[in-house]
Amino acid sequence: MDSRCFISDFRSNSVFSPPVPKALNKPFLALPCCWSARAHRWLYFEDAQFSASPRTRKSRFLPNLECINIRASRESIKNSAEEKKKKKPGVAKKKLAVFVSGGGSNFKSIHEACVEGSVHGEIVALVTNKTDCGGAEYARNKDIPVLQFPRTKDGADGLSPTSLVDALRNFEVEFVLLAGFLKLIPVELIRAYPRAILNIHPSLLPAFGGKGYYGMKVHKAVISSGARYSGPTIHFVDEHYDTGRILAQMVVPVLSTDSPEDLAARVLKEEHKLYKEVVAALCEERIVWREDGVPLIQSRQDPNHFC
Ligand code: GRF
Repeated sequence: MDSRCFISDFRSNSVFSPPVPKALNKPFLALPCCWSARAHRWLYFEDAQFSASPRTRKSRFLPNLECINIRASRESIKNSAEEKKKKKPGVAKKKLAVFVSGGGSNFKSIHEACVEGSVHGEIVALVTNKTDCGGAEYARNKDIPVLQFPRTKDGADGLSPTSLVDALRNFEVEFVLLAGFLKLIPVELIRAYPRAILNIHPSLLPAFGGKGYYGMKVHKAVISSGARYSGPTIHFVDEHYDTGRILAQMVVPVLSTDSPEDLAARVLKEEHKLYKEVVAALCEERIVWREDGVPLIQSRQDPNHFC
């Protein structure tokens, strides 16, 4: 089947809109501590402003609370399960492109997960603005094609936005994963891949995000703000830096003795786990979109649970 038909088919079926329960009408953060078969332990903040209700106070200080349980209507769950049943047999691995500018440790960890099978995907292209970076070198060693984007200033090397989209289409890429890519994603790519581009950011967005917040600058800003918690955020990508809808977060403590490097190392360790879990869900078609446009991850074990 033509991969584009497949993609649009998948997306339209993925827009399963579970009803929003009363408790979730307010802004909230769902923060996974761990997403796996062994435990679903998530932090749940009912209100990002931390209102003084006893329930919210409890949510704030208890480290691990239950996954949000959205009681989707029986009909919509049934339809979603039926769709999945239809698709599962023989579902091809999802084709992924990863964008990096640096060492590429997230890229490597996702690649390893694809190779050992915990992620039902295949990285078919690596896109970078720095062809000599660690991520590009790893890709070449693994025979993953390396594409340069954007064009260099003199125009001698690199792809234009439209030729980048064409190249990704030629590789039949279905999802784009940004992992430390420091250039703004062109609108052409965002339009070509709606709801199909993810980014990982090393702070709890929307705090410490946006232009200028990258690398060690993020961790320095977190420490000097006095924040006691930080951690990675995975979000869908829109036309601005770090503003797309949040899909998953994980909390790590900021210790009183932390240097930016200490905090970066603690956050990066969790990034690797979180990105793999999220990409596994993406490749298993377990991302669903709530009717207000918030993406949720459907539990593999219990389709009534969304985080
Ligand atoms: C990560 O901290 C990620 O959150 C940010 O860039 C860094 C990339 O690290 N977007 P690596 O290249 O994957 O090691």
